[in-house]
Amino acid sequence: MPFFAVIGLGWGDEGKGKIISVLSDEFDIVARFQGGSNAGHTVYIKDKKVVFHQVPSGLVHPNKTGIMGPYELIDMELLIKEINDIEKGGINIKERLYIDGRCPLVLPYHKFIDELEEEKRGLLGTTKRGIGPAYSDFTARTALRICDFKNDRDLNERFNISWEWNSILLGGRYGQPPPDKKSILEKLKKHFEFIEDRVIDTVEFINKSDKNGKNILIEGAQGALLDIALGTYPYVTSSHTTSGGASSLLGIPPYKINRIIGVLKAYATRVGKGPFPTECRDEFGEALRKKGEEYGATTRRPRRCGWLDLVASKYSCMINGVTEIAITKIDVLSDIKKIKICTAYEINGKKTEALPISISDWFNAKPVYETFDGFEIKKDYKSFDDLPENLKKIIKFVEEYLNTPVKIISIGKEKSQILFK
Ligand code: IMP
Repeated sequence: MPFFAVIGLGWGDEGKGKIISVLSDEFDIVARFQGGSNAGHTVYIKDKKVVFHQVPSGLVHPNKTGIMGPYELIDMELLIKEINDIEKGGINIKERLYIDGRCPLVLPYHKFIDELEEEKRGLLGTTKRGIGPAYSDFTARTALRICDFKNDRDLNERFNISWEWNSILLGGRYGQPPPDKKSILEKLKKHFEFIEDRVIDTVEFINKSDKNGKNILIEGAQGALLDIALGTYPYVTSSHTTSGGASSLLGIPPYKINRIIGVLKAYATRVGKGPFPTECRDEFGEALRKKGEEYGATTRRPRRCGWLDLVASKYSCMINGVTEIAITKIDVLSDIKKIKICTAYEINGKKTEALPISISDWFNAKPVYETFDGFEIKKDYKSFDDLPENLKKIIKFVEEYLNTPVKIISIGKEKSQILFK
């Protein structure tokens, strides 16, 4: 089992970090393949809260090696802060971390443009970490990459191209002066010195490690429904968040990822704007937010909350080739009399189990629910068989609907509150 992936099935924040923490015996190397500082995995190190944004969260476990793959966006300033914060918590991670030389950079003007564009285009509710503008720069082939710092000529040439392109955008679209070229470049050079010895060719490294029998965990960030091509466009992030993305973006053959764990929260959440058919904009949604502590790890924004949406989850299982499901935060649904699960949408009077494509259809999708009797999580259960019968019925229903086995069930905050089926 050299490669296995942990992928979110929703709009992010499914509890992937928690699932990775119980799989820590099963991998030697953990690799991030997309996104950047928009991600947020909260981890507690000796009661101190540390949030992993760019560094793979699996690195919190000792003796693991972490990889930031070629398509991960690097914000060097924030990365240095993140590494220092984690190390202050008593965990040395820098010496276990490798960054690919191909990684594109998030530059200060990308973050500024992200803010300006939110106003201009209308809110998508981005994290304002410069993700969209930095990936735009990259796909326009005007970006600056980590490897450019290894050679002054490359650095000056590439930085000029990126700076010029973004200055035109800043001036023409937003009426802003060009960013201060000299000071940005000076700062970047300083930042690079800090990470220079961690920069390698991770594609070579990961494929060699595979040959040498190492187990490699692929750590997804965000979720399948935020995928740039397959998600709820335009309310998506700017990278490929699926298992297929992991293969192309890490440079590993697709057939090698043969265990794909889809992480499904027992209810749905979304942070930022965009369609969310099962959203509960009422007291119940508020109660879920409070009980589930649903506030963004990166931006602290309150997350929107609603019922589990199996229509969207089934699509996520399909596009990722999910082989097993991990359900998280089941305890948050404890003590609710009747539990609803969305099993179809009604769009313009027609019932369907297929996901909409157009954004108007998405916003018109009304959930069709099945209702289940609630359950009470009373104590720490030792095995799946001990769980309340009503909960077992719900899990069986989820398995049948998604045609995928549920193998991991999280019923509380502690690591010991994770059951394997
Ligand atoms: P961006 O990735 O900052 O451009 O934001 C685009 C959309 O993705 C917004 O709705 C964000 O709230 C959402 N998003 C980005 N990263 C995460 C994440 O890690 N968890 C949940 N939502 C995210």
